Amino acid sequence: MHTLIFATNNKNKVAEIQSLVGADFNVIPLSEAGIDIDIPEPHDTLPENAFEKANTIFTITQKNCFSEDTGLEITALKGAPGVKSARYAGEGRDFQANIDKVLLNLNGIENRTAQFRTVICLLWQDASNGLQTYYFEGICKGHIAYEMHGEKGFGYDPIFIPEGSNKSFAQMSMEEKNKYSHRQKAVTQLFTFLHNL
Ligand code: IMP
Repeated sequence: MHTLIFATNNKNKVAEIQSLVGADFNVIPLSEAGIDIDIPEPHDTLPENAFEKANTIFTITQKNCFSEDTGLEITALKGAPGVKSARYAGEGRDFQANIDKVLLNLNGIENRTAQFRTVICLLWQDASNGLQTYYFEGICKGHIAYEMHGEKGFGYDPIFIPEGSNKSFAQMSMEEKNKYSHRQKAVTQLFTFLHNL
């Protein structure tokens, strides 16, 4: 079995990804790898931030690892909050404040189309090829509701309604969210790739 460190402290993301991982891989979060740091996300693109996170952890551990960076891209806001999704309303990374800011900025705007985009960066080393960097992307298209719906999930889930559903992510079980989820699509590509190595 291969052990892979997932460079995150976000318990919701770990739970989502663990529900998708096959028996061949043991994915462990930073806490289980004994790492307690707040990894910087200083860049203007999701791939650069994903690389920064994975590379920070690889530098410390010298072990295979992956990271992901996700942004909510709203058409009428020219792609904002995008790479700044976690801190849209300030450094506090407050989910409710971020939602309030999105709803305020979309006040009176009819075009509510939006998408979540996840980029995964994998740093994988093996004896024959040395250390390699791979990227995987998952997109979930949908729209922003006029108000919050549901209590589940995290982040912008209460205001995001994926294409093909009339429920917000926060009204779905994890299994149901996974059928649509940007993260699920990127993770599926990652594990398909790993299984074929
Ligand atoms: P991160 O930088 O990849 O951790 O994600 C940036 C921000 O996007 C998070 O703080 C959440 O607010 C939001 N986000 C990421 N994934 C999701 C999701 O699946 N649902 C709702 N919000 C999300």
